[in-house]
Amino acid sequence: MDTLHVAIFMLLICICQSDDRLTPAKPLIFPGDKLVSDDGTFALGFFSLTNSTPILLYLGIWYNNIPERTYVWVANRDNPITTRSASLAVTTNTSSLALSDSKGHILWEATTTRSNATAGAGAIAMLLNTGNFVLRLPNGRDVWQSMDHPTDTILPGFKLWTNYKNHTAARIVAWKGPHDPSTGEFSLSGDPDQWGLQIVIWNGTNPSWRSGVWTGGTTASLTKYIWSEIIDDGEVISATYSTTSGLLTHWKLDYTGNVSFRTWSNESSTWTRAFQRPGYGCLHYGACGSFGYCDITGSVQQCKCLDGFEPINGFSLNFSRGCKRKETLKCGGGEDNFLTLPGMKVPDKFMYIRNRSSEECADECIRNCSCTAYAYANLRTILTTGDPSRCLMWTGDLLDSEKAGDMGENLYLRLAGSPTYPDIGHNKEILRKVDLGHFNTFHESWDQNLELPNISFEDLTFATNSFNDTNILGKGGFGKVYKVGTLEDGMEVAVKRLNKDSEQGIEQFRNEVVLIAKLQHKNLVRLLGCCIHGDEKLLIYEYLPNKSLDKFFFDCEMKSVIDWPTRFNIVKGVARGLLYLHQDSRMMIIHRDLKTSNILLDAEMNPKISDFGMARIFGNREQQASTKRVVGTYGYMAPEYAMEGIFSVKSDTYSFGVLLLEIAWNLWKDGMARDFVDKMIRESCLDSPNARPHMSLVVSMLDNEDMPRPRPKQPMYFVQRHYDEDERQGSESSTNNASLTALEGR
Ligand SMILES: *[C@@H]1O[C@H](CO)[C@@H](O)[C@H](O)[C@H]1NC(C)=O
Ligand SMILES: *[C@@H]1O[C@H](CO)[C@@H](O)[C@H](O)[C@H]1NC(C)=O
Ligand SMILES: *[C@@H]1O[C@H](CO)[C@@H](O)[C@H](O)[C@H]1NC(C)=O
Ligand SMILES: *[C@@H]1O[C@H](CO)[C@@H](O)[C@H](O)[C@H]1NC(C)=O
Ligand SMILES: *[C@@H]1O[C@H](CO)[C@@H](O)[C@H](O)[C@H]1NC(C)=O
Ligand SMILES: *[C@@H]1O[C@H](CO)[C@@H](O)[C@H](O)[C@H]1NC(C)=O
Ligand SMILES: *[C@@H]1O[C@H](CO)[C@@H](O)[C@H](O)[C@H]1NC(C)=O
Ligand SMILES: *[C@@H]1O[C@H](CO)[C@@H](O)[C@H](O)[C@H]1NC(C)=O
Ligand SMILES: *[C@@H]1O[C@H](CO)[C@@H](O)[C@H](O)[C@H]1NC(C)=O
Ligand SMILES: *[C@@H]1O[C@H](CO)[C@@H](O)[C@H](O)[C@H]1NC(C)=O
Ligand SMILES: *[C@@H]1O[C@H](CO)[C@@H](O)[C@H](O)[C@H]1NC(C)=O
Ligand SMILES: *[C@@H]1O[C@H](CO)[C@@H](O)[C@H](O)[C@H]1NC(C)=O
Repeated sequence: MDTLHVAIFMLLICICQSDDRLTPAKPLIFPGDKLVSDDGTFALGFFSLTNSTPILLYLGIWYNNIPERTYVWVANRDNPITTRSASLAVTTNTSSLALSDSKGHILWEATTTRSNATAGAGAIAMLLNTGNFVLRLPNGRDVWQSMDHPTDTILPGFKLWTNYKNHTAARIVAWKGPHDPSTGEFSLSGDPDQWGLQIVIWNGTNPSWRSGVWTGGTTASLTKYIWSEIIDDGEVISATYSTTSGLLTHWKLDYTGNVSFRTWSNESSTWTRAFQRPGYGCLHYGACGSFGYCDITGSVQQCKCLDGFEPINGFSLNFSRGCKRKETLKCGGGEDNFLTLPGMKVPDKFMYIRNRSSEECADECIRNCSCTAYAYANLRTILTTGDPSRCLMWTGDLLDSEKAGDMGENLYLRLAGSPTYPDIGHNKEILRKVDLGHFNTFHESWDQNLELPNISFEDLTFATNSFNDTNILGKGGFGKVYKVGTLEDGMEVAVKRLNKDSEQGIEQFRNEVVLIAKLQHKNLVRLLGCCIHGDEKLLIYEYLPNKSLDKFFFDCEMKSVIDWPTRFNIVKGVARGLLYLHQDSRMMIIHRDLKTSNILLDAEMNPKISDFGMARIFGNREQQASTKRVVGTYGYMAPEYAMEGIFSVKSDTYSFGVLLLEIAWNLWKDGMARDFVDKMIRESCLDSPNARPHMSLVVSMLDNEDMPRPRPKQPMYFVQRHYDEDERQGSESSTNNASLTALEGR
C-alpha cells in the first residue's frame, strides 16, 4: 500500500470508529481509532508524549473539544505499548476489557469480579459524557468503571471516599513528570487513619499538605454553577462535586505536588487555575513546627506561635523547631485556663471521641491533664449511628494548624492560668465555611449572616495570569478591571484592582467594602469578595457577560440589538436600583457617578448599577451635603453639583434623567418615542433640584402608565461656570460627553 492508500485506510477507520462504544466485534485499533462520547466532550484513544524510540504509547481519555490536549485518565501509565500497533478489545463471553500490543502481550486489563461468567456475556465498553469509561452489561449494570481507578484528575461526579473503619481511601496519583504519565511521588487521598474526612497530599508516605477536618456540612454551593455533597454513612465518608453542563472543570494533582482546581475558559482558550495547595509559603505540612501555625489571613502568609507560646529559636523567624509555652501548665486541681482561638484549621493527629455534647467534650479535655486542646462541631448529616457530635481532642504537641479566617473553626487551647471555662458559643449560628477544607471551600448554604470572604492575593494572581493585560476588561480613573475566568468554585468574576496611589486608606476601603457588601438588590452589582495585600486593594464582583450599557450605544451594530421593551426594562431596573440606594436600603446612599458605562447588563439584559467608588453614605437626617472636590462625569452632573459642589439624592435623579435621554435617544430620532420623551424625560431633567422628582415617584410613573404627572417647569438658563480640571481628577474619563453635546445641539 502506498501512503495515499494508508491515509485513506486510516481515514475510513476513523470515520467508522468515531463512536462512543466498543463491542466485541469492533476493537479499538492503533493507529487511527478513537472513541468520542455522545456529546463530543471526551475522547478515548492512544497517545504518545515524546519522540523517544521505541515510541511509548498510552491509552487515555482527554477533552475532545479544546485545543490544549489535557489528559484526565491513563490506563497503562506504568506499562506503555512499545510496538507499532495495539488494540483495546472487549471479550465476548467474559466481558473483560484488555489492551494488547501487536505481539499479543496484555499490557492492561479492566479486571472485574468474574464470579459469574455467564452473567457477563455480551458487555460493551462505553465512553460516557462525564468522561467515565464503563464496561456495561446488557442489563445496564456497569461491572467496571474508570472513575473507580482514577489517575491524577478528579472530574465532577467522581467520589473521593474514605473508609475510616477499614482504613482505606480513594487516591489519585500524580504523573512522574510533565511528559511522563507513570506513577509519580505525589498522591492525594482522604487520610485513612483518622476519623472523618481530612484530605492529604502525600509526598511518598509523608504528608506535604493537609486540609482541615470535616465540620459536618452536607451539601454546599456558593454559586449556581458548582456545588458539592458530602455523605457519611458512619463508616465511609465521600465527597463529590457537580457543575452545570458546559463548564469544564477538574481537580488536578500535578507532578510538583500541587493540587489545583482548573476551569476551561472558552474566551482565553486556557485552563484557569483558581486555587492551589500547598503552593508557596507556610501551607506545607507542619511548616511552622509544633505549636506554631500558618497565618493566611494577613497580606502575607506567615508562621506564628499559638497564643501563650513563643518561638524556640527566639525571634529569628525560623520556625523549624516550633514554639514553646511561655508558662508551664499546672494542671491537677484545675489550675488551667482554656483560650478560644477562632477561625483555625485544627491541628493534625486528633482523637475522635464519639457521642459527646459540647459540654461533655469540653469536660473530657478539662479533666484530663494530657489534653492540650479540643474542638467541637455538630455534624449536619444523617448518620446510621444517630450520633451528630464531633468531639476532637489533642494530647501532646499541636502540629500543622492554620489561621484560616472564616474557613476555620474554634480551637480551645489549654494554657496555664486561673481556671475559667471557655465561652463555647456552640449554639450560635455563626458563619462558617464547609471545611472540606481549603481543598474545597464553600459557604454553607444555610448561612444567613454572610460576610464578605477575603480572597487571597495569590489566588487572584493565578486567576488573572499575574494581572496580564490580556485579561483586562476595562480601565478607569480608579484602576483596572480584569476578567477572571473563574474563581475556586468556577464562578466567573471580575476583579477591580484599585490604583495603588488611590487616596483611600485601608481602613476606609474596608469600611466601604463592608457597606457595599450589605447592599443586596437585583439591580446592583454584587460584590463577592475583597483582597488587601500590602498596598494592593482589590474588589471581586460578579461578572456580567453583556458588559456595560454604553457598549450598546457606541457600537453601531449593537444599537439595533436592544429594542424598546429591553430599553424600558433597563430604565425601570436602573430606577429601582437607585430607589433602593436612596431610601430602601439601611442607609441613604448617593451614587454620584451614574452613567451608561456604570450600568452593567447580565445575560438576560437586566441592568445592574456598578462602581460605588464615589458613592457617599448619608446619615439619617442629612439631606444634602457639599464638597470642594467635585467628582463625577461631566454631562451627567446636576448643575448645582457641578458648579457649587452641592449634592443630594436629586443629583442622582439628574444623572438618571440624562441616562434616560440617552437610552431613548435613538428611538426618539426615529420618531418612535416622541410621546415618551415629551411626557416623561424632560420632567426629570430639570435644573432645580426641588423640581426633580424623587426616584420613588419615577419608579411609580414607570410602573404605572395612568399615573398623573406633574407639569414640567420651564428650564432656566444657566451660565456654565468654569471649574478647575484638577478637581475632577479621580473621575473616570468619560466617553459620554459626545452624546450629551449632541443632545444640546437639538
Ligand atoms: C470464551 O469464548 C472462547 C471462544 O469464543 C472460548 O475459547 C473460551 O474458552 C471462552 N471463555 C470462557 C471463560 O468461557
Ligand atoms: C449467575 O447468573 C445466573 C444467570 O444470570 C443467575 O441465575 C445466578 O444467580 C448468578 N449467580 C451468581 C452467584 O451471581
Ligand atoms: C474497605 O472498604 C471498602 C468499601 O468502603 C472496600 O472497597 C475495600 O475493599 C475494603 N478494604 C479492605 C481492606 O477491607
Ligand atoms: C518530597 O520528599 C522528598 C524526599 O523525602 C524531598 O526531597 C522533597 O523536597 C519533597 N518535596 C516536597 C514538595 O515536599
Ligand atoms: C465552551 O465551548 C463549548 C464548545 O464550543 C460549549 O459546548 C460550551 O457550552 C462553552 N462553555 C461555556 C461555559 O461557555
Ligand atoms: C507548586 O508549588 C511550589 C511551591 O511549593 C512552586 O514552587 C511550584 O512552582 C508550583 N508548581 C506549579 C506547577 O505551579
Ligand atoms: C479579612 O482580612 C482583614 C485584614 O487581613 C481582616 O481584618 C478581616 O477580619 C478579614 N475578614 C474576614 C471575614 O476574615
Ligand atoms: C532553622 O533552624 C534549624 C535548627 O535550628 C537549622 O537547622 C536550619 O538550618 C534553620 N533554617 C534556616 C532557613 O535558617
Ligand atoms: C450517647 O450517650 C447518651 C448518654 O450520654 C446515651 O443515652 C446514648 O445511648 C448514647 N448513644 C450512642 C449512640 O452511643
Ligand atoms: C487522658 O487522655 C489520654 C488519651 O486519651 C488517656 O490515655 C488517659 O487515660 C486520659 N486520662 C484520664 C485521667 O482520663
Ligand atoms: C500575557 O498573556 C499572554 C497570552 O497568554 C502571554 O503571551 C504573555 O507573555 C503574558 N504577559 C505577561 C507579562 O505575562
Ligand atoms: C447577553 O449575553 C448572553 C449570554 O452571554 C447572550 O446569549 C446574549 O446574546 C447577550 N445579549 C445581547 C443583546 O448581546
